[in-house]
Amino acid sequence: MDVKQAIQTRRSVKVYDPEYRMSEDEIRMLMEHAILSPTAFNIQHWRFVHVRDPALRAEIRNASWGQPQVTDASLLLVVCMDLKAWDKNPQRYSRNAPPHIQDHMVTGIRQYYTNNEQAQRDEGMRSASLAAMSIMLLAREMGYDSCPMDGFDFDVVARLIRLPQDHAICMMIAIGKKMQEPRPRGGQLDLDEVFFTDHF
Ligand SMILES: Cc1cc2nc3c(=O)[nH]c(=O)nc-3n(C[C@H](O)[C@H](O)[C@H](O)COP(=O)(O)O)c2cc1C
Repeated sequence: MDVKQAIQTRRSVKVYDPEYRMSEDEIRMLMEHAILSPTAFNIQHWRFVHVRDPALRAEIRNASWGQPQVTDASLLLVVCMDLKAWDKNPQRYSRNAPPHIQDHMVTGIRQYYTNNEQAQRDEGMRSASLAAMSIMLLAREMGYDSCPMDGFDFDVVARLIRLPQDHAICMMIAIGKKMQEPRPRGGQLDLDEVFFTDHF
């Protein structure tokens, strides 16, 4: 399957085979590719929680208005971000580069994020969302389906996964073997309504 086919066939699937298990190797492969997604300054703000414990899944489902994919999908990921990643040993984000490049990057990071909580959050959201899309497209190539989710109580899920104070949740993603086709696409807007040249 090429990328175009993965994009065309990715749909938000809500009904999964609860008996199906993805292998550890598949999950690792998925995540190893997720972390190749782009991030500003290569900060890699994303943090992923793989929810395996069935009891925890059930609690999260309760906090997600009972949505069945939370317990029935093979893999449930809570896609989070470290809002303060920019300030945590930032040299490591360019650790393969020569020292003068590292210094340049760290200076840029500090200038951009210091005292700018909106940038800290926006960048985390951008990074985590890009990784989420990588995960969903690769899952498709692997023969799985997915559902991105924000239909849950963020505060409750944060407590359940013991989210650190300086982190936030971006979304959840359910991934697994589809048992039921999703409804037909809701209908895309005309390209002319959303795609502009030079100006709005
Ligand atoms: C950020 C985000 C949150 C979403 N939350 C939910 C959700 O909680 N439950 C659900 O069933 N679908 C959820 N969806 C899926 C959307 O309903 C779906 O992407 C949209 O209707 C388009 O359908 P498609 O993904 O099949 O193309 C979410 C999608 C996004 C991007």
